[in-house]
Amino acid sequence: MPYAAFRSIGAYVPQKVLTNEDLTKMVDTSDEWITKRTGIKERRIAAEDEKTSDMGTKAAQIALSRAGIAAEDIDMVVCATISPDYFCMPSTATVIAANLGIKNATAFDISAACTGFIYVLEIAKAFIESKTKKNVLIIGAEKLSAITDYTDRGTCILFGDGAGAAVITATEDKSEAIVDVHTASDGSFGDLLMTPNGGSGSKHDALDKEAAGCYMQMKGNETFKVAVRTLTQDVRDILEANGIQSESIDHFVPHQANYRIIKAVGDALKMREDQVVLTVAKYGNTSGASIPMAINDLYESGELKAGEMMLLDAFGGGLTWGSALVPFAPLK
Ligand code: UT7
Repeated sequence: MPYAAFRSIGAYVPQKVLTNEDLTKMVDTSDEWITKRTGIKERRIAAEDEKTSDMGTKAAQIALSRAGIAAEDIDMVVCATISPDYFCMPSTATVIAANLGIKNATAFDISAACTGFIYVLEIAKAFIESKTKKNVLIIGAEKLSAITDYTDRGTCILFGDGAGAAVITATEDKSEAIVDVHTASDGSFGDLLMTPNGGSGSKHDALDKEAAGCYMQMKGNETFKVAVRTLTQDVRDILEANGIQSESIDHFVPHQANYRIIKAVGDALKMREDQVVLTVAKYGNTSGASIPMAINDLYESGELKAGEMMLLDAFGGGLTWGSALVPFAPLK
């Protein structure tokens, strides 16, 4: 049976930086409040003409080159995004595939909000283990600034733009295999984090995003509590199911939504500070892009070595959540 191996990582962040200080000129907030409640200091904002697919393409080019795999050898492209280039079609994954010169590959987007990268990881693993695909490009890319209401201080201080990508390929070597991926959802909490209209359930004027309800709305405090409770249990479960102790994890890479959530989950699992990967201060919450962007930071700082075990966890709109145990397995 083939196993799925996590071969490489790449990421892209737009140049423009939006600081907490900048936000104080837009809404009634302060650097002190944002830093204390979220740990965020700044976030990146894409250029007006820069699309989600443009960022995803740049991240994917780096991941492909680091994997040493040619675009023509990719047989599936899956993109996790809640800010696709187009409302319905074409999918962002097909645009990215075309940009990269990938032809005849299966390509589609998935919508699982901040848990998107764990979902695409599970999809890649399943397709490879079932022998349906061999070389899968997975991407998390978001232009959240396009769906953020910059008059709502409860949300606009949190979100940023960026993209990350990884190449997952088949291997016969079990020591390289992604150990486990777990994903789940509970749609009865859908109203905690949503873009309320703009879909088939409403009449809307797409040009007036506010009237159309296309901006993100969040019941932040309730979401926070469910996130801490759910993630702590989910991570405990995946460690226990695989007989792995938290102290033997090399890198804990949580979704970067809020430092306080990361700290609460990390403390509950007795993670040491040196195990926890943090990028929330400089990128804010980039939803489906946040985990691969954080893995890329780890890689570029030289701290991610072949064979090291990563524990990923994420929580987001849907509600969705998930976790994964992933050894880094670059091709020699
Ligand atoms: O990524 C997907 C999942 N998302 C998350 O996990 C995010 C979860 N939620 C959060 O990160 C936090 O709930 C927030 C950072 C959004 C808010 O922090 P909080 O500690 O839960 O604050 P709160 O919503 O309970 O609000 C406390 C106070 C309120 O004022 P009053 O009613 O106590 O007078 C808010 O109006 O803080 C006020 N407030 C602000 N003040 C200054 C809310 N936003 C701001 C702001 N600046 N930006």
